[in-house]
Amino acid sequence: MSHKYDYLFKLLIIGESGVGKTCLLLRFTDDSFTANHLTTIGIDFKIKIINLENKLIKLQIWDTAGQERFRTITKTYYKGAHGIILTYDVTDQNSFKNIRNWIKQIEANAQTNVCKVLVGNKCDKPDRVVTEEEGKKLAEDFSMSFFETSAKTNQNVNEVFNFLTQEILKANEGKTQQMGDKLKKDDKKEKKGGCCK
Ligand code: GTP
Repeated sequence: MSHKYDYLFKLLIIGESGVGKTCLLLRFTDDSFTANHLTTIGIDFKIKIINLENKLIKLQIWDTAGQERFRTITKTYYKGAHGIILTYDVTDQNSFKNIRNWIKQIEANAQTNVCKVLVGNKCDKPDRVVTEEEGKKLAEDFSMSFFETSAKTNQNVNEVFNFLTQEILKANEGKTQQMGDKLKKDDKKEKKGGCCK
């Protein structure tokens, strides 16, 4: 099997239960949306290959459960992540307040150089309680970029994933070259028939 991509990046979506993590992922990978809340059990992932700066990048995107009872499982996935999407719901003050706790989780469990982006989802809804300015300010406090999104109307969803991928590419310029070379070497090995020939 040949590798049809240059780089492999792992992304993680975190935030309180019900903020729309699964919907953001499904909008990005399948261009679909459901009005039902299908609570994620533990963790799940989807793959999407994107073309950025003439490079094919395979994104392995991990969708974590927001519910407290799954925290022990989900935090084991922070370590391998190149990028994290930190999500709250603009109509849910509690999900916004808890972003500071999620940042502590990242600091305790992820790699120090992990790329992060703050996302205020459900911006299509009229009953918002968190303003765009409050979101921007919080992102600035933690040196993160900020987007307001709607998984329902597909506002800014591709932008978030593309931006984060670009940040990872920039942050790992030397390393990504090595990662790309490794994928190409592995590819050659496989074509030769692996270790048995
Ligand atoms: P957990 O798996 O429990 O952590 O939840 P989650 O964060 O994955 O939430 P999910 O994606 O299941 O969405 C929860 C609810 O919010 C569902 O009823 C969605 O239809 C709704 N929802 C998600 N995104 C949006 C959005 O952008 N706009 C609106 N109006 N509703 C949304």
